[in-house]
Amino acid sequence: MDLCAKEAWQELEQQSELKTKITQDNWRLYFHLMPETGWMNDPNGLCQFNGVYHFYHQYVPQNPAGKEAPHWGHKTSTNLVDFKEEAIFLSPEHSYDRNGVFSGSAIVKDDQIHFFYTGNVKNEGDHDYTFSGREQNTVHVISDGYSIEKQEVVIPHEAYPAGFTDHIRDPKVFEKEGRYYMILGARTRESEGKILIYQSEDLSQWTYQGIFLGDDYSLGYMWECPDFFQLDGQDILLFSPQGVDPQAYAFNNLYQSGYLLGEVDWKNLKFKPTSDFVELDRGFDFYAPQTFLDQKGRRLLWGWMGLGDTSPEYSNPTVTRGWQHAATLPRELSFNGQRLIQQPLPEYQKLRGKSVFWNVELKDSFTAPELAGEVYELQVELTQQTKKLQLLLRQDTILSYDGQIFTLSHGPSGYGRKKRSIQLSELRQIQLFMDTSSIEVFINNGEYTFTSRLYPQKGKDQIVFSGTGSLAIQLWPFSN
Ligand code: FRU
Repeated sequence: MDLCAKEAWQELEQQSELKTKITQDNWRLYFHLMPETGWMNDPNGLCQFNGVYHFYHQYVPQNPAGKEAPHWGHKTSTNLVDFKEEAIFLSPEHSYDRNGVFSGSAIVKDDQIHFFYTGNVKNEGDHDYTFSGREQNTVHVISDGYSIEKQEVVIPHEAYPAGFTDHIRDPKVFEKEGRYYMILGARTRESEGKILIYQSEDLSQWTYQGIFLGDDYSLGYMWECPDFFQLDGQDILLFSPQGVDPQAYAFNNLYQSGYLLGEVDWKNLKFKPTSDFVELDRGFDFYAPQTFLDQKGRRLLWGWMGLGDTSPEYSNPTVTRGWQHAATLPRELSFNGQRLIQQPLPEYQKLRGKSVFWNVELKDSFTAPELAGEVYELQVELTQQTKKLQLLLRQDTILSYDGQIFTLSHGPSGYGRKKRSIQLSELRQIQLFMDTSSIEVFINNGEYTFTSRLYPQKGKDQIVFSGTGSLAIQLWPFSN
């Protein structure tokens, strides 16, 4: 073997040893998507093509701390529950993306998938990489989902309009009445977030149309990962703003993800908001969500179950075990006339083991031998209003409600995560998914969600209810 081949071989061996070690980690998740090794962030290129669901994601396999040029990792599924790890789809190997194949989206046209992503380039020199030194090119890839037929830069960095910093990225492409539109998140030189819109007839030639959102609306300094869709007749614009000040219980995370309801003026290509910005999730670990329409016509959303730059406030101890972060469960979106509703997919009922059920008139506290575990789904229906309810879940993770405020709190197992709350006038239902080191809580059939990571000691953790109320409790251990 020549030296190069030997080194490559050693690297492969180390990688496979690391994979085996990581598989044995008790904080690995059972029914969420994770990087095999290293780092994962945003979901990318979500689509269903010829029946197969494709989930791509920001991926740095060699470094659990990220901080190196990301690839697009790739997982596929036919049922949204069982996934297959595929070969890395896109790598930072061109002059126009050498510092990262950044986030982007997919659109299916004429039996092919068209992907759009941001090719990130950092030029040598003394730069801050916001106001100078960075290029973010928009790249188009034609593919069957696995191999690349064509890859071309469709908007080189220098072609973006004037007045912006070097941060213009995360193309999301959609179709409306035979025309294609692309929206991109951006930061101006005055550090204001904006969404740009481009138009195309053929997905290859794009012309700039102006500012889709940001002329008469401001929030923070940068908007990442925009997404636009219509749902039940409502125009909805999703994005992930950075630099929003905390307000009482709202915007408590460092970066936010949420949406505006509004109306698009298609002639002038302007999104006119008709609501305030609403956070999609109220837990600690949720960012950069992306949606797509599946072949059943459902609007599905996947988020990154993580957030950047949370240290020193909170962290993920899996870094020292060779991996970090995961994706949320895919969620089905609907619009109830006022807000977006997020619900877990019925597909996940396939994981339910034999259920246990209790009707409880809670006076003080309640538990049972079967009310325990590390991987389960739990549903609680409240048939009568309560002003005092607490659920102890995993050693030191607590959900509580006092008639006005609903809170998720963590003790030491939160690794710095302490508490997040919402105002809630009525608590009717809680559905939650516990997956070793993650929790996703859906409140009142998906009106609110809380997504968080937690790292308790290994053990068969007892679930304890305390307070008062009439509860119908159902628990399904998940088989794994
Ligand atoms: C959001 C984000 C995107 C970018 C990607 C890089 O988390 O910062 O704006 O494309 O991550 O990994």
